[in-house]
Amino acid sequence: MSNHIQIFDTTLRDGEQTPGVSFSFDERLKIAKQLEKWGVDIIEAGFPASSTGSFQSVEAISEALSTTAVCGLARCVKSDIDAVYEATKKAALPRIHVFVATSQIHLESKLKMTQDEVLASIKEHVAYAKDFFDVVQFSPEDATRTELPFLIDCVQTAVDAGASVINIPDTVGFSYPSEYGKIFKTLLETIKTDHEVIYSAHCHDDLGLAVANSMAAIENGAKRIEGTINGIGERAGNTALEEVALGLYVRQDHYNNQSKINLAETKQTSDLISRYAGIRVPKNKAIVGQNAFSHESGIHQDGVLKNPETYEIMTPQLVGVKTTELPLGKLSGKHAFAEKLVNLGYDIDVDEQKVLFKQFKEIADKKKAVTDRDIHALIQGTSHEQSAIYQVETLQLQFVSNGLQSAVVVIKDKDGNIYQDSSIGTGSILAVYNAVDRIFDRETELLDYSIDSVTEGSDAQAEVHVQLKIGNQIVSGVGIDHDILLASCKSYVEAQAKYIADISKEEGIHS
Ligand code: KIV
Ligand code: ZN
Repeated sequence: MSNHIQIFDTTLRDGEQTPGVSFSFDERLKIAKQLEKWGVDIIEAGFPASSTGSFQSVEAISEALSTTAVCGLARCVKSDIDAVYEATKKAALPRIHVFVATSQIHLESKLKMTQDEVLASIKEHVAYAKDFFDVVQFSPEDATRTELPFLIDCVQTAVDAGASVINIPDTVGFSYPSEYGKIFKTLLETIKTDHEVIYSAHCHDDLGLAVANSMAAIENGAKRIEGTINGIGERAGNTALEEVALGLYVRQDHYNNQSKINLAETKQTSDLISRYAGIRVPKNKAIVGQNAFSHESGIHQDGVLKNPETYEIMTPQLVGVKTTELPLGKLSGKHAFAEKLVNLGYDIDVDEQKVLFKQFKEIADKKKAVTDRDIHALIQGTSHEQSAIYQVETLQLQFVSNGLQSAVVVIKDKDGNIYQDSSIGTGSILAVYNAVDRIFDRETELLDYSIDSVTEGSDAQAEVHVQLKIGNQIVSGVGIDHDILLASCKSYVEAQAKYIADISKEEGIHS
């Protein structure tokens, strides 16, 4: 048996079910390209029947990727399967993922179907999908709370109808490693088939066991792991794929299986998702957190200086975290800047480089050393679709009286139109946000505001994340600037612009 573990990334489907996360069309495409560079085998690019926006991005991603398979999600509904076929038909490797819930609680409370009706539906829809796709993946949703004999019947029915990938979702993050692993062992021993069947793990992190459960599945014969970057997803999130990839690599002595992940692209991939999702990676997060390779205690520092392996089971370089870098400064010219972009793995056209260079100079005027992280932040900020739609031109603040501040905000759209308004507030940030609300003319609730520094040091740029509720929708934005108030204003304008981009998308069904 092959010792290749396929990595199935569902950041753009299950990951986007994270409360408050909604990627734009442009962001989805950039994420898909980065995932291809990271080396995932399959990208679940969306749920095409759920909305026009999802359909269009699955279609665009299918056209853009050349080595990674592109998969679309479908319920056991013929029109869902048709939508996946239409959206992925130009992909080099089109795939479909058909699912139906199988646990008693889902059958009775959600689907109002009997077990026999579910079996008939699996047979009909997997066979229907097989007419359009070489590879059909089937998932019994809430598998870990499904009675084992019925789960076996569902899987056998799907395999008999032509499914060659069986995914076992721990939909509500209820299982634990030995129990989850045993399901795989039982299926591998019980299911009869005349074609190769790959078993796949799909875990949620409600009990913090998603990665452990996925690794237990591998120990019991699973050859595919589904998950998301940084573990984003519904509720507590999904299996963090970067942890699985490194677990397999560092402990190959135990797992004896490998993924094809390009580990050196891990940090870059994580940063991109964090940026576009508007969700900061916790500092202590495994593999990609800021502290993952820092050593605080004197004894540890001493040990690492003598031999890094005393306290490091992997090097930061392995996952693309740079520890030694040559920062740029205000005397650095266009060529040094262009070379830095290439070294950091960016392929940016000359026109965009000119814009970036100008912005780099502005940072270099204020900051002694412009680090790689500053440059990543600069690029991710400017290549961001929303920041291209609306830019904060100027921001002026004035103290009024009794703690009240007044703010004048000027915004420019991509066609050069200028919008401006002013307002007061009980603090500078509220004054700025009230003025922006007046420009966009809508009621907005600020759900979350957080501020961090891009790098260490007193001249570091500030990175502000906001989460807003506009109508029923939650949107997030990020702003980066030396000036905290300007960074705050930029993040708020970006969230507002994201909302505008999103309302043009149709609201759809969520799995
Ligand atoms: O968690 C889940 O059950 C899912 C299915 C759609 C596979 O995401
Ligand atoms: Zn899921």
